[in-house]
Amino acid sequence: MSRTITVSASGRYDILIQSGCLDFCGTRMRTLFSASRTAVIADSRVAALYLDRVCASLRNADFDPVCFVFPEGEGSKTLETWATLQSFLAKNRLTRSDPLVALGGGVTGDLTGFAGATYLRGVPFVQIPTSLLAMVDSSVGGKTGVDLPEGKNLTGAFWQPSLVLIDPDVLRTLSADQFSDGSAEVIKYGMIFDRNLFDRLQNGFPQDAVEEIIGTCVDWKRQVVEEDEFDNARRQLLNYGHTVGHAVELLSNFSLSHGQSVAIGMSVVATAADRLCLSESPCADLLRQTLSAHSLPTVCPYDAASLLQVMLRDKKVRGNHIQLVIPSAIGACRLYPTPVDTLLTFLEAGL
Ligand code: GLY
Repeated sequence: MSRTITVSASGRYDILIQSGCLDFCGTRMRTLFSASRTAVIADSRVAALYLDRVCASLRNADFDPVCFVFPEGEGSKTLETWATLQSFLAKNRLTRSDPLVALGGGVTGDLTGFAGATYLRGVPFVQIPTSLLAMVDSSVGGKTGVDLPEGKNLTGAFWQPSLVLIDPDVLRTLSADQFSDGSAEVIKYGMIFDRNLFDRLQNGFPQDAVEEIIGTCVDWKRQVVEEDEFDNARRQLLNYGHTVGHAVELLSNFSLSHGQSVAIGMSVVATAADRLCLSESPCADLLRQTLSAHSLPTVCPYDAASLLQVMLRDKKVRGNHIQLVIPSAIGACRLYPTPVDTLLTFLEAGL
C-alpha cells in the first residue's frame, strides 16, 4: 500500500507513506534536488539502525552524503547542538541548494528543520521520521526549533520540509514505550477531530491498521496546516494536552516522555473541563480508559502551583491569557482562552 498526501502551505510538498521507502529515499529526493551534496542528521540510536541504508540509497542516486550524529534524547535539543550542527554544515561546505535530511524522531526533525531554516538563511530539508510520534505529527507542518533551559520549543521557526518519507516498517524497532509515546498523539487527533478514530483506539492500537491510521492523522494535520500554517487559530487545537504536558515534561526533568506527559496533560484538561461543566458531554473517564489501554499514564504527579509556575513561561501565553484547548466532546475540542489569574483554579479542578 502506498499513499501520498500533498500539503499546500507556503511550500507545497508530498508526504509519502509506504513500506520500504527508506530504501529509495535517494531516488525520490533526486526528483526534487539536482545537488550532489546532502547532510543526514540522526541521533546515535537511529544512526546505528538506519544510517547505512539511507546513505546507500543516497549514494545510489548520486548524492554525496555527510552525516551528523548526536546523542539520543531531548537533552540534545538545545542551542548548543544547533550551533554545533551549523558549524558542521559550514565546515563541510554545504551550500544553499544542498538538502538536509532529518532521519529520526521529533528531536531530530525539530533540530534539523531549525538548522534548515537558519543555515545560510535557509536551506531545504527532508523529513524521514522513524518514530510514530514524528510520523503522525512533528514531521509535518514545519514547526522547527529547540528547547531553552526556560522551556520547551522556546526558540524556532516555521520552515516547511520539501518532502516527508514515512516508512512504517521502521516502527518495528521501536520499544513498546516509544510506540505508546506516538499513540498519545494519535489519541489526541481522535479527541480533537475524529470520534471514529478515537473509538478504534479504545482497546489499544489496531496493529493491522497502523499505516492507515498514520494516513488519517497526517491528513488531519494537512488540513489544519493548510488552513492555519502559522498557528494563529485552528492549528492551536493541536496543542490539546500540550500546555500542561510540557510543564509535566519539564518538571519531570524529561524522565516522563513527551507522549506520557501529553497523556497526563490531556487527562488533566479533560477532567477540569468535565468538573467545571465546560464540556457538552463528559469525556475524561473514557479518555483515561483509552490512554490506559495504551499503557499511558493519566495521573499527574505534580500539584497545581508547580504546573502553573512552568505554564506561565509557555509561548502560548499572550498578554494575561493563556490559550488552552478543551474537549467539548470526544472528537470535538475548542480553543479556551483562559485568564492567567484563573489558571490555578482550572488546574486544581483537573487534578
Ligand atoms: N505539533 C503541533 C503542531 O504542529 O501544530
